[in-house]
Amino acid sequence: MVFEWNKGLSVGLETVDSQHKELMMRADELLKAMNEKSGVQEVRSILIYLEVYVKDHFEAEEKLMEGTEYPFLEEHRQIHQNFTRELSNIKKEFLKNPNSTIIQLQVQHSVCEWINNHIMKEDKLYADYIHTKK
Ligand SMILES: [Fe+2]
Repeated sequence: MVFEWNKGLSVGLETVDSQHKELMMRADELLKAMNEKSGVQEVRSILIYLEVYVKDHFEAEEKLMEGTEYPFLEEHRQIHQNFTRELSNIKKEFLKNPNSTIIQLQVQHSVCEWINNHIMKEDKLYADYIHTKK
């Protein structure tokens, strides 16, 4: 497994943590399918699943932030939009050129970025804020 959730990634909000776990599991599945050249259809369906799941997850996070009047909601929303765009570009590039190893590296890079910069920093920030509101 390349990507696996661990306690150090917990933001202390059960729903968010469980969505992050699912996302990581699917990202790992995606990378595996790409590595093993499992076929365009399989990779494509994981990418489609991820797109829908990411959208729902981001919406859930944004609702939490809205509900607590998080002051950096707009900045966070912007980061979500960028990531959504990145994912859709990955899908497009993969479908154009399914055998490219560059896409695999891009997936790896994007997910690492999302874990290290997004969950570890941005998500923990809003989660800490929500904890202070409880
Ligand atoms: Fe987020």
